Amino acid sequence: MVKKQVMVSPEELARQRDFMALCQKELARRYGEEKAPLAFVKSFGCQQNVSDGEKLQGMLSQMGCGFTDDIQQADIILYNTCAVRENAEQKVFGVVGWATHQKSVRKDLLIGLCGCMTQQAHIAEKVRKSYPGVDFVLGTHALHQFPEIFYGVLQSANEGHRRRAFAVEESDGVIAEGLPVVREGGIRANLPIMYGCNNFCTYCVVPLVRGRERSRRSADILAEARELIAQGYREITLLGQNVNSYGKDLEDDLSFPQLLEAVASLPGDFWVRFMTSHPKDCTPELMDVIARCDKVCSHIHLPVQSGSDRVLTAMNRHYNRAQYLEKVRYAREHIPGVNFTSDIIVGFPGETYEEFRETVSLIEEVGYSSLFTFIYSPREGTRAASMPDPVPAAEKSRWFQELLDAQREVGMVHYQNCVGKTLKVLVEGEGKLKNGILPQEEIDAAGGRVLMGRTEHNMVVDFVGPECLIGQFAQVTITAASNWALAGHWEKPGC
Ligand code: 5AD
Ligand code: SF4
Repeated sequence: MVKKQVMVSPEELARQRDFMALCQKELARRYGEEKAPLAFVKSFGCQQNVSDGEKLQGMLSQMGCGFTDDIQQADIILYNTCAVRENAEQKVFGVVGWATHQKSVRKDLLIGLCGCMTQQAHIAEKVRKSYPGVDFVLGTHALHQFPEIFYGVLQSANEGHRRRAFAVEESDGVIAEGLPVVREGGIRANLPIMYGCNNFCTYCVVPLVRGRERSRRSADILAEARELIAQGYREITLLGQNVNSYGKDLEDDLSFPQLLEAVASLPGDFWVRFMTSHPKDCTPELMDVIARCDKVCSHIHLPVQSGSDRVLTAMNRHYNRAQYLEKVRYAREHIPGVNFTSDIIVGFPGETYEEFRETVSLIEEVGYSSLFTFIYSPREGTRAASMPDPVPAAEKSRWFQELLDAQREVGMVHYQNCVGKTLKVLVEGEGKLKNGILPQEEIDAAGGRVLMGRTEHNMVVDFVGPECLIGQFAQVTITAASNWALAGHWEKPGC
């Protein structure tokens, strides 16, 4: 059972559906019955945010909107923002500045901001004061109220007295089931299983903007997974800030390993992944599920953040280096060929060069295939933001480069080890040919068109093959590798 106060009531969801219908009428009046208004929706940041963006698109679609990737064509611009690092915020202010400038030429353009940035009071205030062109601001907790907020904005514009809307109240967060979703592509789908975070890592703003952990009922998740499989999706990623906490707030429901196994046991030809797994709660039970379920990819994204015990304690991570390495050892012993990726923060307040070197030695010891690497960015309201941070930015940048150089070597080993192996690949679309390792003769012979797929280890593979393979699994023999991508050969003729 989910705590009642966390679930948005069916009555409230029905009320929002009524607002969608009202928005549709208002939009038709504003843009004419013949032409669907076009929305440009851009999500920054993590998969959770992308998933929220897909719900915003779902609601816009129910209001009769179409979508465009060309912002110049858009009638409605929606930026779904990320607050995790300062540069993400700067990027958003850059694009919002551009969009509001467009509005000085195109008066009927509607601009909205939502996502993690807007849930912070100081950001909402900055938008209110300095970006008057923004019509509405929707914090993460108000996502399901988008129809009502948007209707207010449309109505006020029609009545000739423009009213801006700010729905940014603080909250521990809710769960809104059954919102419409428009997903990108038809091959890989994000499936949120829980929202929020209770961990309060000292550097991280997420618990402040996404509220407390709350899990969806497994029955709702499994129903959505079944629907995705029936729609032909080949890969489902179970999403949560810390999926290992799944179910801890529910009574009489599944744990994360049980949920993962239940999804993997659904009939159909698909892969299951999950993001993100906090090392402190990553249990042998979970690894045993990965080991015994063929459909669960043998890839664990297990963000370590640092290799130094002192820094890990200062980050409030609740594991040490030895405990982390023990989890990796257990996984390697029980899951043949398991692959690890990670997140690393360089230059946490007070980190010394020696402590940073412990991170480098850890990545060499674990042997990650790839890393997401970040220079520490102070976030207002977090504990780390008030810690002494004496190391100059230029010094942190040097350490960062050192980390990238080390990982290049570590990653290369993984990619080179794939050469000569035949791997199952989920074909996602046309290759962008950025890896430069597929021989030019092969590319020319294929008329310049190659395919791109991903292995269960999340390694990108470019290869020549027919278009009908897109959305299918294919066996590809790896012929060459760089330190971040593979090239291969698909030998089966026809489809
Ligand atoms: N500075 C730098 N990196 C951060 N991350 C989270 N907060 C910060 C911050 N303040 C990184 C962590 C996390 C990933 C999603 O973003 O590595 O795992
Ligand atoms: Fe942020 Fe830590 Fe929660 Fe991840 S587990 S979202 S890093 S507070």
